Amino acid sequence: MIFGRIKPLDAILATAEKKSLVRTLGPVQLTLLGVGAIIGTGIFVLTAAAAQKAGPGMMWSFVIAGAVCAFAALCYSEIASMVPVSGSAYTYTYAVVGELLAWMVGWALILEYAVAASAVSVGWSGYFMGLLKSITGLELPQALSAGPVWTMNGLIPHADFSHGVINIPAIVVALAVTALLVIGTTESARVNAVLVAIKVTALTAFILLTLPVLDTGNFSPFAPNGWFGPEGTSGMGIVGAAASIFFAYVGFDAVSTAAEETKNPQRNVPIGLIGSLALCTIFYLLVAGGAIGAIGAQPVLGPDGAVVAPGSQGFAAACATAAHAKDLVCSNEALAHVLREINWTVVGNALGLAANLALPSVILMMMFGQTRIFFVMARDGLLPEKLASIHPRFKTPHVVTMVTGVFVAIGAALLPVGQLADISNSGTLFAFFMVSIAVLVLRVKEPGRARPFRTPLVWVIAPMAAIGCIFLFFNLPFDAQLVLPVWGGLGLVLYFIYGYRKSHVGRGLIETHEQDAGIPPQPVPPLPGAHTPGGRDA
Ligand code: ALA
Repeated sequence: MIFGRIKPLDAILATAEKKSLVRTLGPVQLTLLGVGAIIGTGIFVLTAAAAQKAGPGMMWSFVIAGAVCAFAALCYSEIASMVPVSGSAYTYTYAVVGELLAWMVGWALILEYAVAASAVSVGWSGYFMGLLKSITGLELPQALSAGPVWTMNGLIPHADFSHGVINIPAIVVALAVTALLVIGTTESARVNAVLVAIKVTALTAFILLTLPVLDTGNFSPFAPNGWFGPEGTSGMGIVGAAASIFFAYVGFDAVSTAAEETKNPQRNVPIGLIGSLALCTIFYLLVAGGAIGAIGAQPVLGPDGAVVAPGSQGFAAACATAAHAKDLVCSNEALAHVLREINWTVVGNALGLAANLALPSVILMMMFGQTRIFFVMARDGLLPEKLASIHPRFKTPHVVTMVTGVFVAIGAALLPVGQLADISNSGTLFAFFMVSIAVLVLRVKEPGRARPFRTPLVWVIAPMAAIGCIFLFFNLPFDAQLVLPVWGGLGLVLYFIYGYRKSHVGRGLIETHEQDAGIPPQPVPPLPGAHTPGGRDA
C-alpha cells in the first residue's frame, strides 16, 4: 500500500520544534533576502531569449510570470510556516500526500535546483566572456565557450557542434562553487546585503542610462509573435516567454522558508514575499523597457522568414550573420551589450563585472538547496545513506555536494542557458503545483493545526496558483515539457528498485532529527539575522 506511506506530521513537527530559531528578521530584511535570491541570470541573460520569443511584448511576460509566482508564494508561505523543516516541498508532500508523490517532488526538485545551477553557470560564462573580450580583447574560441545546439529528432535528442562544443568557463565556475560548498562556505547576511546592493546598483544604472535614450518606435510592432507564437511553434509568443522568464523569479521561496526566523510572520512574510516579487517585477519591467527602448528587441527570422526559437540551429545561424550580430536577442550578456551599444562601454563593463560577482552566489544557493534536498531524502532512506555522509574535517555533506557539482558542471558544459532554464522551470512548476494542492489538502485534513501564516483567500489563491503553474508548464517549449515525464519515469523506476524497499517510513522507522537546524551541518555559525542560502530549499 504505497499510497498509505505518509510521514506523520507530528514526527516532522517534533523535528522542527527542536530547531527553534531566533526570530530576528523584519519586513525589510526579508524583502532584501528575497531580492538577493531572485535577481540573477533571468534578467541579466534571459531577457534576450524572452525578446526573441515575444519581442517588446515580453513586458507582459514579466507580469504574467510574476503573478503566478505571487500566488504560489502565498501558498508556499502557509506550508513553510506550518512545517518549517528541511526538505521543504518534498517534506510537505511526504506529510500530506505520501511517499510516492514526495519522491516524485524531490526528484523534480533536482531539475529545479541542479539544472538551475547549470543555467546560472552558463549565464555567468556569457558575462565572463563578454567582459574578457571588452577589457583585454582576448576571446576563447566559441567551440570552448559554448555548448552544442540541441534539437529533437522525434524523441531522440541530436547535438549540433557547429556553434559550440563545450562551455569551459561554465564548468570552472560550477566546480569552484562546489569546492566552496565542500569546504563549508555559506553566505552570510552581510555578504548577501553587499551582493544585493551590487545587483540593484547595476540594474538601477542600466535603467537610468537607457530610459533617457528610449525610442518609442522600438516598441512597434509590440507583439510580433502574438500571445502564443505562430502556428507550429512551441514555447513562443508572450505566454511562451512568460513560461521561460518565470526563471527570473525563482528564488522567492527563500522568504517563505525563513518564516520561522521572522518576527510576526503573519504580517511580515507576505510583506517580504509580495514586496520582493513586486520590487523585482518593477525592476524587470523598467530594465526590459530600457533595453527595448534603447536598441530594440525584435526577433530574428530564419531563412524562410519564419521566427526561430532561441537556441535553435536557425537562430544560431541568423545570429552569426553580420546583419544581426548586434541585436539584443543574439547577445549572451544582454544588459551589458545594450549599454555598450549606446556608448556607455565602461558602465557596460562594470555591469558585466557586477554580474560576474553576483551570479556565483545564486549558483551557491541553488547547489546548497540541492544538497539539502538530497540529504533529507537520503536520511529518509529513499537514496543511499552514503550520500548523506559528513566530511570529518569540513563537517559538510561532501559526497552529495561533489556528486551534485559534477552533474551541474556537465549540464553547464553541454547545454545552452535558455534550454537549461526551461528544463529547470518544468521541475519548479511541478513542485509549486504540488505545494498549492498540499495547502488545500492540509486545510481539509488538519483544519485545527497552528498556522503562523495563513494564505489569504486560500480557496481562490491556491487554485489560481495551481492553474497558473499548469498554464505556464504547457507553454514551455515542447522538449522542456517532455523532460518532466521522462525524468519522472526514470524516477519511478529508481523508486521501485531502491527507495520503496529501503524507505524508513516503509520499514516502520519514524525518527525525529534533533540536528535539523543546520542541515547540512555548517561549521560557521551564521551572523545574527543571517539566513543561509539553503534556506530556499524549495
Ligand atoms: N531567479 C534566479 C535567476 O534569475 C534563479 O538567476
